[in-house]
Amino acid sequence: MKKLIIINGPNLNLLGKREPEIYGSFSFSEFLETIREKYSNITIDYFQSNIEGELIDKIQEVGFTYDGIVLNAAAYTHTSIGIGDAIKAIEAPVIEVHISNTFSREEFRHQSYISPVSKGVILGFGLQSYELAIQSFI
Ligand code: DQA
Repeated sequence: MKKLIIINGPNLNLLGKREPEIYGSFSFSEFLETIREKYSNITIDYFQSNIEGELIDKIQEVGFTYDGIVLNAAAYTHTSIGIGDAIKAIEAPVIEVHISNTFSREEFRHQSYISPVSKGVILGFGLQSYELAIQSFI
């Protein structure tokens, strides 16, 4: 059975409550439940942290045994050389995802330390960005 993990960065624990006009009104746990039912032939693990080092630890932990990582590093996308380096260090392919279209937002969101080291990037499709990333691994 294929093993994937979705890793979410800071503030994504507040999905559904946080700026719903940008990020929607669904909580991530509701979405995850739906997606796990729909793709029941693969394992979809989930990890969220607001702490940069914990995200790096998780990437290292799963990076040699999982078939793929769907990563929304949230604000760390635009700042974290450490997360970029962690992706370079592992074997599992990473798909970078964003809920919003970061290129239609503030200039500081146009920079990504994740994109150059990812297999692909999917952004701007709401929570569907995660589903499209999962489909790319199937
Ligand atoms: C985000 C976009 C980031 O710029 C922002 O800091 C987030 C969420 C997105 O999914 O659209 O927290 O990664």
